[in-house]
Amino acid sequence: MKLIGPFTQVVTLANLPLRGKLSDEQLEIIPDGGILINNDKIEKVGNFEILKSENQNIEIETVEGEQVVIPAFVDSHTHICFGGNRANDFAMRNAGKTYLEIAESGGGIWSSVQHTRNASEEELLKTLLERIDFLISLGIATIEVKSGYGLDTENELKMLRIIKKAQEQTKATLVPTCLSAHLKPRDFEGSNEEYLHYIVTEILPKVKEEDLAKRVDIFIEKSAFQPEESKNFLLKAKELGFEITVHADQFTPGSSRIAVEVGAKSADHLEATIDDDVDFLAKSDTVATALPGASLGLGEKFTPARKLLDAGAIVAIASDWNPGSAPMGNLITQASILATFEKLTTAEVLAGMTFRSAFALGLEDRGRLTEGQKADFVTFKTNNFQNVLYNQGSLKAENVYIDGKLL
Ligand code: NIG
Ligand code: FE
Repeated sequence: MKLIGPFTQVVTLANLPLRGKLSDEQLEIIPDGGILINNDKIEKVGNFEILKSENQNIEIETVEGEQVVIPAFVDSHTHICFGGNRANDFAMRNAGKTYLEIAESGGGIWSSVQHTRNASEEELLKTLLERIDFLISLGIATIEVKSGYGLDTENELKMLRIIKKAQEQTKATLVPTCLSAHLKPRDFEGSNEEYLHYIVTEILPKVKEEDLAKRVDIFIEKSAFQPEESKNFLLKAKELGFEITVHADQFTPGSSRIAVEVGAKSADHLEATIDDDVDFLAKSDTVATALPGASLGLGEKFTPARKLLDAGAIVAIASDWNPGSAPMGNLITQASILATFEKLTTAEVLAGMTFRSAFALGLEDRGRLTEGQKADFVTFKTNNFQNVLYNQGSLKAENVYIDGKLL
């Protein structure tokens, strides 16, 4: 056993409901707090001096100066395994070029596919680990990582194997997701349906065999896969035993319904979700994930997080870090900005980046500082936890602990 503290404030996120709106009065904030650790789990959280007197002869890790501590963040949607760079797409978009013009001049998802296919495994692993380290430096200890820039058996497996290798070299938890249904690659000879059939019969069995991912994602959109074919694909992936997540309603509404109908763990994006579908999502256990980094990267509207929360949905917030639509990668900045535009409480934003995004990944063992939870937490050098969002990402994380150990 080990006691860490004293912290000026411990924000536990205890007792907050999984779904719906939250007020800041619901937050449990323990002043002069301590965290008692048993192996890699939280044993108890409470007043530091009381915990100290109750637990004699244990190791004490003393915290110097004013620091607040909150659960480590969970980024439940990223595409951080990729080669190349799409700065030119960004510049062209801002100069007024359309999606089609950008794709025709060599940009778009297909350009990242070519760069990723051409990159060496060493290079992909190195840049993936650098991005993981950046996310850890923000206080993120659990990171979902998608494939989706390989788009054939060899290259999708290459990406997923690299994500697996990265897991051996980082303390953060990586959650791999197979996104072979990101786009039909230009060199696939056949229809969308034939490509989806190829994924089900060729790629997914190998992913399963090598235990490379337990989750399957698809991009349902006019420019990618259509609703009906996507639903059939997702049901087949489910039959194979995969959990489902969906890129839904990014530009065109309707696909979040499919996510709910197939029992997806999450429907992500939702910038274009219509009011009826907000209610449909809110009545389901499918997490509605806002991706403000994509809104900021594309100059598009934000996910209607306020409406979703008011309707009772489980709302998570993730970075979507990718080379095209969301190049920033700073989840804290993005979530703070989403809060100002969507009028989200601090409790709603913190919940969206912790236990609610963990739930989207099926990881209910983390995201709160309560007994039995994984001892992942982040500290900030400040006397008021509100400063974390108030400073919109410029207040840097001081210390990150994973499994109760300081990184
Ligand atoms: O989540 N929307 C589809 N996929 C990514 C973008 C990927 C890319 O542009 O490379 C997203 O925004
Ligand atoms: Fe995405």
